[in-house]
Amino acid sequence: MSDPREVGQEVDDAMAAIRHDVELQLGVERTTAADVELESIVRFSADLPETLDAGTRARLAEQAERLQPWLQGPFLLGGDLVVGGAWRNDQRWTGLAGHVPDLQGKRALDVGSNAGYDPFMFKLRGAAEVIACEPFEFIRQAQFLETVYRSGVDFRQTAWEQLDPDELGRFDLVHCHGVLYHEPHPSLLLEHLRAMLTDDGTLLFGSMMLADPELSEYARYVPGSYYGDATWWWVPGRLAMRWMLESAGLTVVEEFGVSDGPPGEFRTVNGYFRATRGEPVVPSLRDRHGWTTRPSSS
Ligand SMILES: C[S@@+](CC[C@H](N)C(=O)[O-])C[C@H]1O[C@@H](n2cnc3c(N)ncnc32)[C@H](O)[C@@H]1O
Repeated sequence: MSDPREVGQEVDDAMAAIRHDVELQLGVERTTAADVELESIVRFSADLPETLDAGTRARLAEQAERLQPWLQGPFLLGGDLVVGGAWRNDQRWTGLAGHVPDLQGKRALDVGSNAGYDPFMFKLRGAAEVIACEPFEFIRQAQFLETVYRSGVDFRQTAWEQLDPDELGRFDLVHCHGVLYHEPHPSLLLEHLRAMLTDDGTLLFGSMMLADPELSEYARYVPGSYYGDATWWWVPGRLAMRWMLESAGLTVVEEFGVSDGPPGEFRTVNGYFRATRGEPVVPSLRDRHGWTTRPSSS
């Protein structure tokens, strides 16, 4: 375990910037761990100690505090020490677990990992290799947790635009939840996710969507912000989302896990699509123009 003083000024500054953004949305800079029975929290390492001595507990708690704000959670660090967060990823997994394919010996990719809850789950479920991609400073939380869990997840501070199947190979499972509406180029993201899938691979794709069935075929742009988050660009209806996936060459097998979305200016739901790699309806931008990322010139 590294010394908490090694968390440098650069990280403190980066986390402070994120705290500012989170305060705009949640009204608090720092989150408190959900009040959950310890026994019900997933243990991401079989070696987590049942009790922590006072010194170790204080050191871990101090490190976690410097990495505020925690959005994902709950994460048990041993003993009775729990960190995270504003979100209940454990509750999302009650709807997700039954739809995750057998991962024994397989390769999994998580896109937009935040503090790493989902990639830790994929490793726990037997994946041989898990790569997790997160471009922002939330990666520090994931890296900190990995020093505790030693799960073997390969956390990379990178964005989906940088994922390259020629470099990383392709994956039996690609999971991407909660990223699309942050993306002003959503079709490019979907094409990219497809490119990372093996021929018989599974995509688990989750997004916030419009709740109103009357608006299912539409997408609503929110260029100012939605629910106080200026990084949200637009919200698709459920049918529009399905058609977008299919246009990008993904065959939707099922929709599941629909639950209420955040309490923003209009009603939304969160939900998942399970898809396989199909034929693109239109040639991908990559094929048409050789773009693997967004065009660099305006
Ligand atoms: C709403 S959160 C969802 C996090 C996690 N997937 C979950 O469902 O709990 C969106 C995440 O996507 C990350 N993100 C934003 N832009 C990204 C990009 N270009 N590539 C990959 N991840 C991105 C954010 O930093 C954030 O951690």
